[in-house]
Amino acid sequence: MMKHFLELNHWSSKDLWNLLDMAVHLKREWLAGGNQPVLAGQVLGMVFQKPSLRTRVSFEVGMTHLGGSALMLGPSEIGLGERESIGDVARVLSGYVQGIMARVFDHQHVLELAQHASVPVINGLSDDRHPCQSMADMLTVYEHFGQLEGLKFAFIGDGNNVALSSLIACAQFGMDFAIATPSGYEIPADKIEPVRSLLESSGIRYEQSTDPLEAVASADVVYTDTWVSMGQEAESIDRLNQFSQYQVNADLMKQAKPTAVVLHCLPAHRGQEITDEIADGEQSLIFQQAENRLHAQKAILVHLMSS
Ligand code: CP
Ligand code: NVA
Repeated sequence: MMKHFLELNHWSSKDLWNLLDMAVHLKREWLAGGNQPVLAGQVLGMVFQKPSLRTRVSFEVGMTHLGGSALMLGPSEIGLGERESIGDVARVLSGYVQGIMARVFDHQHVLELAQHASVPVINGLSDDRHPCQSMADMLTVYEHFGQLEGLKFAFIGDGNNVALSSLIACAQFGMDFAIATPSGYEIPADKIEPVRSLLESSGIRYEQSTDPLEAVASADVVYTDTWVSMGQEAESIDRLNQFSQYQVNADLMKQAKPTAVVLHCLPAHRGQEITDEIADGEQSLIFQQAENRLHAQKAILVHLMSS
């Protein structure tokens, strides 16, 4: 069966650990002088329906480091599901490229691409999920603490795509997960339902509240993301009001462990979900985290595309 990287719950915990170990190895190899060209001659097609800095650059650079190349296919070029059906896009691209990375609005669209592609498909963010981000996040936390199991991860803000993937990553890697969102902005119950058995079998503690102080209490990792995700721009004014008490700032960080670190997937809206003081402070790992997109995704590319 074709292997894709679409949702973290499609993978076993053991396989995700293997990816993480491979990311550590590839990062070391890169820093020691360069990666082996294990993807020589291979091309990754990158389909973007939304803007990107990190995802676009880290995938393209990652392919280059591994001896291959990447092709940027922006929103005006493909018209996924509009100019042409998703199935036809998948079939045509499969004849040209050896892997597809797609950033889409509707999560079903990345699943549909995978269903019709004969090459591996990677989810580079959908409205529901951001699994590549979570792998880079786990790599960052692992590098810092030397472990993942038993740590507490607190997510402050919107129960969005990054929150859901973070929850699943925590279940897969054995970290307790607490989330504080304004009422009505929780991770939707219908998105939790398919991963409920994973959450239960993982044995992690999962807490959802509206109180940021409660969520960050004794946390090892404090995470936040934008209050207005791509595609939600029309809700901006309302969201900025609803989320105003959910800022990661120095007062909030006093509730976390003194050794806690701060993560943000970026782009950050400084002065909204995070203050400059915290984003640029000693506890912040946000730029190491951004760099780790490169190394975590190389592991995914090698696993899916090398023979
Ligand atoms: N974190 C992240 O995915 O960043 P981009 O939207 O810039 O790719
Ligand atoms: N939740 C954000 C993440 C950006 C990387 C969004 O979907 O826009």
